[in-house]
Amino acid sequence: MKLLVIGSGGREHALAWKLNQSPRVHKVFVAPGNAGIALEDGLENLPISSIPELIEFAKNESIMFTVVGPEAPLAAGIVNAFRSANLRIFGPTQQATQLEASKEYSKDFMKRYGIPTAAYASFSDPTEAHEYLNKKGAPIVIKADGLAAGKGVEVAMDMSSAHAAIDAMLVSNSMGAAGSRILIEEFLQGEEVSFIVMADGHHLVPFATSQDHKRLKDGDQGPNTGGMGAYSPASIVTSELSTRIINETIKPVIRGMAQDGHSYTGFLYAGLMISQNEEINVLEYNCRMGDPETQPIMLRLKSDLSMLVEHAIEGKLEEVEIEWDHRVALGVVMAAYGYPKKVRIGDIIYGLSELTSVEKLSNDFHVFHAGTKMGGGDNKDIITTGGRVLCVTALGENVNTAQHRAYEIADKIYFEGCQMRHDIGYLATNSLPQEK
Ligand code: AMP
Ligand code: GLY
Repeated sequence: MKLLVIGSGGREHALAWKLNQSPRVHKVFVAPGNAGIALEDGLENLPISSIPELIEFAKNESIMFTVVGPEAPLAAGIVNAFRSANLRIFGPTQQATQLEASKEYSKDFMKRYGIPTAAYASFSDPTEAHEYLNKKGAPIVIKADGLAAGKGVEVAMDMSSAHAAIDAMLVSNSMGAAGSRILIEEFLQGEEVSFIVMADGHHLVPFATSQDHKRLKDGDQGPNTGGMGAYSPASIVTSELSTRIINETIKPVIRGMAQDGHSYTGFLYAGLMISQNEEINVLEYNCRMGDPETQPIMLRLKSDLSMLVEHAIEGKLEEVEIEWDHRVALGVVMAAYGYPKKVRIGDIIYGLSELTSVEKLSNDFHVFHAGTKMGGGDNKDIITTGGRVLCVTALGENVNTAQHRAYEIADKIYFEGCQMRHDIGYLATNSLPQEK
């Protein structure tokens, strides 16, 4: 069978790579894809992105089903459009995607269904926002209401940065329309966990847990990013905590969405804050897999992903069992110069071709591509085209060995201006960042 994956990042590379491992799958097209995807046997980039063109392609090629990676096409209604054209697609509808696309909708939903989350108020008027902030004090969190690729959040430790964030979003329009409305939210302390499930409208299958590293620099310093590295499983999530997470934060979404008439099919990702006394709070919901969490999770998945997705599309997830590699997987993001602000593109990436032959022989690592394309003088170089460029992902018997292996491989890759954290997994290894 032939499949289609929508997107171009490391998450889509990992999903397509995993889907293609099924003996049932002959080809996975990725629209629009990236240079790493083009180099994989059985994967092919498809340089189109408009929904009508994708529908035409899926029909002409008899695509068995489509999997959507990022939030933007979901928010644009790709699932509604494919379903109207009688095509099978895995993802939530435009209405259900409001859970991610509008933070205000999401907070309101959580309130209505009794899901634990930080207290908040929302504003479009800067004067009212500043007044509210003066009453609440810092630390406090300022968030753009709309989609901002993981960059619309300012965790303000002092009043001046909180006031500045309000002005940036509401006065200077730094986030465009996404920031024309903001939320001011109570600051929560604890350890963050990514909890992802597959849902078919009624049933759910939990994926392995993971932990992202959102800040740009070692020791969780610097600005928020889309994610600089992740590992799976997240050691703090015991089976007891996992059950509580499902009952307190996942089942209410599946039930509530069905009750609201937007039955939820797709990946559902809860970004959680777990306090020291194991109180669970939802920071956000995403209507998709996480990036970079997908990369280590796919490296650990032993089950046939194409079967899982097919069961989910058919509403039969209660029939599946999911199997994981017992090892830890850890992914390190290599980001371009300037990320997450003004990104420089066009830097040549060295060391990849030497690694590809090793990669084919060993099954303990994979370099997933994101912002890459073929370029250079004779179009033979792989060059950077986006903020997050690669996610070097490796397996190990424990977090330390997975971490060691991932950095050993990352050290063989070079591009000018590369930014990389050196402490991915530090909450589990309990060690300070390695000196570089
Ligand atoms: P979000 O996009 O809402 O997940 O926020 C991005 C990041 O900002 C989260 O992963 C947290 O690290 C941080 N963050 C968001 N909301 C809060 C909060 N209420 N308290 C503390 N940190 C937060
Ligand atoms: N890694 C965070 C996200 O995908 O939103």
